[in-house]
Amino acid sequence: MQQPPTLSRPGPSRRFSIAPMMEYTDRHFRYFARLISHHALLYTEMVTTGAILQGDRERFLAYSPEEQPLALQLGGSHAQDLAQCARLAEQAGYAEVNLNVGCPSDRVQNNLIGACLMAHPQLVVDAVKAMLDACSIPVTVKHRIGINGRDSYEQLVDFVGQVHEAGCESFIVHARIAILEGLSPKENREIPPLRYEVVQQLKKDFPQLEIILNGGLTDLEVMQQQMQTLDGVMVGREAYHNPWLLAQVDQRLYDDDHPVPSRIEVLQALRPYIAEHIARGGVMHHVTRHILGLFQGLPGARHFRRQLSTEIHRTEQPLAFYDQLVEDMAERIRPQDCSL
Ligand SMILES: Cc1cc2nc3c(=O)[nH]c(=O)nc-3n(C[C@H](O)[C@H](O)[C@H](O)COP(=O)(O)O)c2cc1C
Repeated sequence: MQQPPTLSRPGPSRRFSIAPMMEYTDRHFRYFARLISHHALLYTEMVTTGAILQGDRERFLAYSPEEQPLALQLGGSHAQDLAQCARLAEQAGYAEVNLNVGCPSDRVQNNLIGACLMAHPQLVVDAVKAMLDACSIPVTVKHRIGINGRDSYEQLVDFVGQVHEAGCESFIVHARIAILEGLSPKENREIPPLRYEVVQQLKKDFPQLEIILNGGLTDLEVMQQQMQTLDGVMVGREAYHNPWLLAQVDQRLYDDDHPVPSRIEVLQALRPYIAEHIARGGVMHHVTRHILGLFQGLPGARHFRRQLSTEIHRTEQPLAFYDQLVEDMAERIRPQDCSL
């Protein structure tokens, strides 16, 4: 596997990370994911500078210590606001702060957040400089290989070169362009073709930078192949919809052979967290909505999904319902699958 370059702010390993995803990678999903992989680097959903500086700051920055290593992803373009948020991220104990330059949504474009910033490298340069000055944790940038109208390789090199000169050493590259008009965010994750070779070329041209590949990765074999020359992979949808993928990450990507809990043990380990969430006035579904894919591909997967997406709303005793479901699932899956 590729040896990562020496970075001036090393921070957490980015060999494998779970992508920031709005509505998906909230603290409950992250807690659940951490029960399966010790090493995967986790990212928050994007939080805008406005939400932190003018909103309920504590809520937006809150996480459980077990989630570490954990990075905060920021959305914004105003250097001083981003700097202030980077400082708050460090104070809150985040291991990294990441700037979103990849999200194509209209809502965020209107505020100059996300992929549209690729057309304004100077704003990203100013932001990164200010963030680096304001904190001592690593500042990373997540971006696309281009946007419509600015999608040549030279323009990508110009963008990465400028942001690197500002001090950023780690780039997470979603290997497709974003089309800022006419496509929904979902279409922008599916229609522009994936071009891993562009990210590979970027690493060749900037060997001193840490380059992490993102986009369409589902298979650990392919990830390992890509990591022959790239420094790491970031996985979004597959990690969410098929979280058992994480069960092999520590062993295959981090050479860590600690015993992996079974799916049933993961459910058992999640129970006290759910109980505490309920005791604080929370709703069980807010946690369990993230675990629907745990049994993907196994007998009982549909039952599990259905119980947690539909039947759950009929119960008045959520923890008893959960315990029963865990028992059902232990019976339904064959014993050898329990340990997979
Ligand atoms: C539901 C959803 C929400 C997302 N929200 C964010 C976000 O907040 N910030 C961001 O940088 N990317 C966001 N993304 C993009 C992912 O981080 C990732 O770049 C993209 O899904 C491609 O990776 P994948 O093919 O492994 O899913 C989101 C993706 C999805 C599916």
